[in-house]
Amino acid sequence: MTPKRVLSGVQPTGSLHLGNWLGAIGNWIDLQKDFETFFCVVDLHAITVPHDPKLLRESTLSTAALYLACGVDPKRSTIFVQSHVSAHSQLCWILNCVTPLNWMERMIQFKEKAIKQGDNVSVGLLDYPVLMASDILLYDADLVPVGEDQKQHLELARDIAQQRINSKFSKKGDPILKVPKPLISSDGSKIMSLTNAANKMSKSDPNEGSRIGLLDPPELIAKKIKRAKTDSEAGLEFANPKRPEAHNLLTIYTLVTGKSKSEVEAECLEMGWGKFKTLLAEATVSALSPIQSSYQELVKDQAQLELILATGKEKADEVANTTLDRVSNAIGLLQKPI
Ligand code: TRP
Repeated sequence: MTPKRVLSGVQPTGSLHLGNWLGAIGNWIDLQKDFETFFCVVDLHAITVPHDPKLLRESTLSTAALYLACGVDPKRSTIFVQSHVSAHSQLCWILNCVTPLNWMERMIQFKEKAIKQGDNVSVGLLDYPVLMASDILLYDADLVPVGEDQKQHLELARDIAQQRINSKFSKKGDPILKVPKPLISSDGSKIMSLTNAANKMSKSDPNEGSRIGLLDPPELIAKKIKRAKTDSEAGLEFANPKRPEAHNLLTIYTLVTGKSKSEVEAECLEMGWGKFKTLLAEATVSALSPIQSSYQELVKDQAQLELILATGKEKADEVANTTLDRVSNAIGLLQKPI
């Protein structure tokens, strides 16, 4: 039996943080064992809001290097840059033409981002979810690991595949596109901001202190943890809904130490914040240390990194172009001369 396919991606905006690792990329490492995995750096998504060309280029390469440093293995997974595989933009155009505009206007993340952009909202920002649908559908992905905030986008990809392509264009009921399912990461791995536990840890938060970068040096990690928002209660606990900061910091602690929730609960039950923060800082620094060393090694050898991305592009192209041809053919585009 052929293994199921998984596809996921992260935008190369700013540098990756603890939330990206504990909530997403860390899970990819395990998925590589049981599935055929495709991981892309979604640079075309990163240009849906105003951006700096130099930073984008740097960030694209460093995001790919961080995938590797975190343990994404090019022997097991296909690692590539979205814009290198032209089928993404091509399928996106086709899907644009069959997707009702009012489906797009309903997208929660679009509405939130559009408010932030004021008068400067691009057509690309509205179209972001269709490009994401193209990413997924091109690879006949069975499963897509995404956070809760991306569920609506995945639902859209399913609706486009099912209602707008398969049911309108497939003959004899043979599906043209595979309808993917979400693989929602468990609750425990949703990491919140260090300065406001109501928000997800995010690359776009203007406050640097709200997140721990995967490449932050040890002193900076310790400083950010020391300044993290806390409450004035004694003892630390997971389950008290009035103590979201305790829940978040304890969650980080379990994930970076690999200890179980109950072990951590017992360990920290009577601990004060000061002592806990020192422990958390030490544990975080030592969890990130192998990733940081591996990253430093990888960026020294740019040619090797580029080779990995070139190989990834080639493998991705092959799968993606097959799907693109299938869709093009089904909707009546004249076959390309060979
Ligand atoms: N929108 C996703 C996010 O911000 C990133 C993304 C783009 C993605 N294309 C994807 C995730 C395809 C999974 C699959 O998290």
